Amino acid sequence: MTDKELRVSKIRDGTVIDHVTAGQALNVLAILGIDGSGGESVSIGMNVPSDKVGQKDVVKVEGRELSQSEVDVLSLIAPRATINIIRDFDVVEKNRVERTDTVRGILVCPNHNCITNADEPIRTEFEVLSDGVRCAYCDTIIREGDVAEHIDARGSG
Ligand code: CTP
Ligand code: ZN
Repeated sequence: MTDKELRVSKIRDGTVIDHVTAGQALNVLAILGIDGSGGESVSIGMNVPSDKVGQKDVVKVEGRELSQSEVDVLSLIAPRATINIIRDFDVVEKNRVERTDTVRGILVCPNHNCITNADEPIRTEFEVLSDGVRCAYCDTIIREGDVAEHIDARGSG
């Protein structure tokens, strides 16, 4: 197998999500609700060699900072990610994602009968378990490996 490597240039202002679990970059974009239609400049590196974690993905988004909900869901699929805030080319803030007890919004409950899937203005809420998340409304569990399949395509958070 050959390593794929993509060197991406530095950004001026925005957010660099670094040390993302290799293979998860596109899921990170889904969590951020980025599909290219919003016009943001986005660079991604996939399976980039990393001293710390072997291989990693990197996502750089110009002109955008992340909401707490986005960071919370990110922690499920990329527990070792660091969030770097860039201003005028400098890293002005660096935070590791932290696992939280609950994630709100962004994930969709797989249970079609769940109140969060009815036409009600209810934001989803999931309790974080050691190996997945559980819907606070109907107790349906999404296993850790399946979380990425339940990201709201509209990216509402
Ligand atoms: N970065 C960027 N644009 C900038 C500044 C930094 O894209 N203007 C990126 C770097 O390429 C790196 C990440 O932001 O992927 C963090 O930058 P920095 O803290 O300088 O790198 P490291 O010291 O290697 O970070 P860490 O210690 O978290 O591994
Ligand atoms: Zn539910």
